[in-house]
Amino acid sequence: MVFDFEKAKENTAKICFETGKQHQKFRFYDKLDGFICEVRYGDKKANALQRGFWTDTKKESALQHGFTSITKGWVDYSENRLLVELFAHALITTRNGHAKALENLKIDIKAPKKKCKCMTPSMFPDLIFNFPETEGVKYAGSKLKLLPYILQLAHKVKPKTVFDGFAGTTRVSQAFAQLGYKVISNDIAVWSKIFGLCYLKNRGDRKFYQEIIDQLNFLPEKDGWFTENYGGLPNGKSSSENDGFKKPWQIHNTRKLDAIREEIDKLNLDEIEKAVVLTSLILALDRVDSTLGHFSSYLNEWSPRSFNRMKLKVPRLFESEKEHEVLSGDIFKTIEKVDADLAYFDPPYGSNNEKMPPSRVRYAAYYHLWTTIILNDKPKVFGKAKRRTDTSDTLASSAFEEFRKSDSGRFMAVEAIEKLLAKTSAKHVILSYSSSGKATAEELYEMLSQSGKMLDFVKVDYKRNVMATMRWTNEWTREIEKGNQELLFLIQR
Ligand SMILES: C[S@@+](CC[C@H](N)C(=O)[O-])C[C@H]1O[C@@H](n2cnc3c(N)ncnc32)[C@H](O)[C@@H]1O
Repeated sequence: MVFDFEKAKENTAKICFETGKQHQKFRFYDKLDGFICEVRYGDKKANALQRGFWTDTKKESALQHGFTSITKGWVDYSENRLLVELFAHALITTRNGHAKALENLKIDIKAPKKKCKCMTPSMFPDLIFNFPETEGVKYAGSKLKLLPYILQLAHKVKPKTVFDGFAGTTRVSQAFAQLGYKVISNDIAVWSKIFGLCYLKNRGDRKFYQEIIDQLNFLPEKDGWFTENYGGLPNGKSSSENDGFKKPWQIHNTRKLDAIREEIDKLNLDEIEKAVVLTSLILALDRVDSTLGHFSSYLNEWSPRSFNRMKLKVPRLFESEKEHEVLSGDIFKTIEKVDADLAYFDPPYGSNNEKMPPSRVRYAAYYHLWTTIILNDKPKVFGKAKRRTDTSDTLASSAFEEFRKSDSGRFMAVEAIEKLLAKTSAKHVILSYSSSGKATAEELYEMLSQSGKMLDFVKVDYKRNVMATMRWTNEWTREIEKGNQELLFLIQR
């Protein structure tokens, strides 16, 4: 694990000054209020660390915005205190001590290597270490942490064209595009299409967008539809307003939103240019929201980041040689237009919990505000979160979000995936699966084995941040049932 200064700088959203008992500190946080690092000031009595730069892998944001793991998650340093101690000792030991320690380590490695081949990096001789940076909003089911594993599996089957069928934030599409694959992205959400156009289709340069964005940042704030429905006064710390509703943004930011969104429609931009500017607006709003990462409810107390003034930045654009495609719609419709070597499917996960209402994780409902900002259609809204009426449970359901069983006794979500595989012409498919739909893991495995040849599967334990590939066993099933597992299946058809 190495401290990545550029990464830390890029991800710093807030710097707090604190006068601790002994030392004054500047603490650096990311946009989710995750700790990145701190700089301490002590007098001459303080030791070197107490006077300098301080990082703490345990406290550091789960997204590791300040660190770069040279093992890409093979080893989780945040929980490995012993390893940190080992390094600390290594720094003050003589060459002789190092040689002896190395001998002991070699003996120690032999046993686990024999027992669990899957955990040795030699299994992945071509592991992609320099996987590209991507950009996106906070998103339930985002594959940010899983990216190295997805790319690694894809690399094995050497596709030219990759279809990202449930693209969401488009992080997976962005990564594939930067690695030189031709990408076709698709999602049912309109804002995902906007992200897709921004990152995959843009040919304009940063300077062009910087001028537009500077102009938008300088617009005077104004009251409008967004402020009326989603803007709240600081009110001390409570986000509950006179109308009894909690709000996702503070009023200084919704006033900016009202002014900027109106202006964007007046600018003479083509579809792709407009998508870049709208993406910039959404990313800026995501940095100052007062939510837990979705808009189906809002926090009781304003989040610290919501006090910040939103500022648009040019999105992280990159150049591509390939002519990518951006589709938008229900996968069962778009799949027919797709000609790709590899399809990556990351559908919402059906849960087996029959007691849960269908509104559990419903993407249209969770991210209704991104849809409204893109469409700017001032829709009729309902409920405490003021959702668009067209995101009500009866109107906006996806077959993949179904938690019930069909008459045949099988989970509808699994049947939907089976139907999708039957319609997919790609030779290879990677399917993401989360243990939040745990009881279906075995069923899914069986169904997938029947739909093609199972080339590989990978289990990533989010909590321990380790990865394993091995035969499907009962042990796996038991572990998956404990939760926190992400599975990736690679199938050849
Ligand atoms: C688990 S998320 C995908 C996350 C994405 N891989 C990422 O890293 O951001 C599932 C996505 O499926 C989309 N979705 C749900 N039903 C769909 C359907 N019938 N057709 C296409 N997309 C759908 C949702 O809008 C959501 O973005």
